[in-house]
Amino acid sequence: MSYPFQINSLAQYHADYKAAAENPDVFWANVAENFYWRKKWDKALDWNFTEPKIEWFAGGKLNITENCIDRHLATMADKPAIIWEPNNPEERVRTVTYARLHKRVCQFAQVLKNNAVKKGDRVCIYMGMVPELAYAVLGCARIGAIHSVIFGGFSAQSIADRLEDAQATFIVTCDGAYRGEKVIPLKAVIDDALIGNKTVKKVIVYTRTRTPVSMIKGRDIWWEDEMDIAEDQIEKNGVVSFKAEEMDAEDPLFILYTSGSTGKPKGVVHTCAGYMIWTTYTFVNMFQYNQGDIHFCTADIGWITGHSYILYGPLAAGATSLMFEGIPTFPNAGRFWDIIDKHQVNILYTAPTALRSLMSFGDEHLLGKNLTSLKTLGTVGEPINEEAWHWYDDNIGKNKCPIIDTWWQTETGGCLITNLAGITPAKPGWATLPMPGVQPVIVDEKGNEVTEADEHGMLKGNLCIKAPWPGILRTTYGDHERCRVNYFATYPNVYFTGDGALKDAEGNYRITGRVDDVLNISGHRIGTAEVENAINMHSGVVESAVVGYPHDIKGQGIYAFVIYNGHHGDENLRRQDISQTVAKIIGAIAKPDKIQFVKGLPKTRSGKIMRRILRKIAEGETENLGDITTLLDPDVVAEIKDGKV
Ligand code: PRX
Repeated sequence: MSYPFQINSLAQYHADYKAAAENPDVFWANVAENFYWRKKWDKALDWNFTEPKIEWFAGGKLNITENCIDRHLATMADKPAIIWEPNNPEERVRTVTYARLHKRVCQFAQVLKNNAVKKGDRVCIYMGMVPELAYAVLGCARIGAIHSVIFGGFSAQSIADRLEDAQATFIVTCDGAYRGEKVIPLKAVIDDALIGNKTVKKVIVYTRTRTPVSMIKGRDIWWEDEMDIAEDQIEKNGVVSFKAEEMDAEDPLFILYTSGSTGKPKGVVHTCAGYMIWTTYTFVNMFQYNQGDIHFCTADIGWITGHSYILYGPLAAGATSLMFEGIPTFPNAGRFWDIIDKHQVNILYTAPTALRSLMSFGDEHLLGKNLTSLKTLGTVGEPINEEAWHWYDDNIGKNKCPIIDTWWQTETGGCLITNLAGITPAKPGWATLPMPGVQPVIVDEKGNEVTEADEHGMLKGNLCIKAPWPGILRTTYGDHERCRVNYFATYPNVYFTGDGALKDAEGNYRITGRVDDVLNISGHRIGTAEVENAINMHSGVVESAVVGYPHDIKGQGIYAFVIYNGHHGDENLRRQDISQTVAKIIGAIAKPDKIQFVKGLPKTRSGKIMRRILRKIAEGETENLGDITTLLDPDVVAEIKDGKV
């Protein structure tokens, strides 16, 4: 069965693309008719990119959880909404039907209410990939609390900064999380994050690993106890109910922090209706989801991909979403293929870095694995190199499954540029065509639209988007000006993505990577300024400069040039201390891959670090470093080149 807004042919793609570009309000109002509204909207779209002000479906009233759960109950109560595969393959799989999901989400909404959490309050969620994380996210949405999920790899300091920025009052966490062989003590990290915090009133702890935890009287409560109390409150005569809060279309749904080119992560804000419609529409169309398909997105819910394509998009579409607690290499590098075989997965959505990593373990992990259930493959998070693309196509899809290369960002809510599985043509390494509703434009440094093709027939420049789609970010939490400056002020009247792109004569886009000081490490965004700030926290460090360099598995690695003046001694120990400092300040994901000690950094006379030169050196370039005559001290360049690690 297909969805009313499902694109079924190339001709329809072109027709829908045209319709959405010419009359976005009419086009999206038609799509919005397929959702459950308590009250329909007054105006489908109102916008300007100067403030920016973007409103979709203003005046409409809804609750996203009624769309993700309640409306499916009449026909699909017993259908699995979430299939949960544990870290340890020996442990029991949990299958959460839509009826069960409804009950648990209502229960958790009641827990929040019992603990004085109200509409608009900010709730921080720091959990492993357990079904309870889904209940927590959706429970917040049910009462209208704004969730801010923080990836389990972030440090106490990162959490503390985010709690402060969001002025969060409630935390949901676990005692610990399993990741392969390791147990991550999440509650202990939260305890550290709360030192000095003034806003958080309660911390609820779900028991997953039975890691010993300190429970502070009056502040810390157990998930299991609270859920038991709530169960009696929400269930009367066998009927489960917790009335969902009525939300305005433009009320905030969640905050998700992401790195930019400054030192401080930004709280990207998405709102209820536009985000719901965008994630559902893109989910159905890019994967060509059909009822009954089992969808496996390998992302963590701590990132936008998990929000949009494990939870909200699939659930609003009434899909079955497979949620995996573990890592691709535990107990061995065949784990994804085991999961696909075991659960008869139809759609696999993963990151190129995971594919490159699994490729490196050799093809023996594929032996004996039945992957014939697969119909569609997808990638996200970074450009995919052709070698990985062909490996995916040959070994996983057996040349029978379309591969979609989905380009998007935390800020875009859902995918903007991709081929649609089996409908629009794929081109390895290319994200290809924009979704209906997305109007990309390539501009030069000054913001002028690039119209002249280069010698290869390509338009080349910075990627911007001319008009809003329903899933675009609305603001950055607590600081609208920051949103304007970051995304809408670089070039007038367009949304600036921060990415560079090529466009071919057929209108296909290839994303070439960030053009700002943002790194993409294993598909995760990390700002160079953030890493530098963390390195500079080390007592012996005078100054540092961080750039990316090509890394076989991670896509990009972190290369740090460090001026060190602390107590000397073994260089490797110093490197470890610096890495440890970064892990404490940001999290292990931001640890530099390479640290080079230098006497000076290449700076202009005005004191600006010339990263262009450092980037070239980190990439292994020794000759063509470009013009270095404007440097304050050109001699440092030779020294840095000689000391490359
Ligand atoms: O540089 C682009 C890259 O990831 C950035 C967005 O990162 P984040 O907000 O963490 O979201 C990642 C998951 C949506 C983009 O600015 N990126 C994402 N997808 C692709 C990509 N680069 C190339 N091809 C992609 N398919």
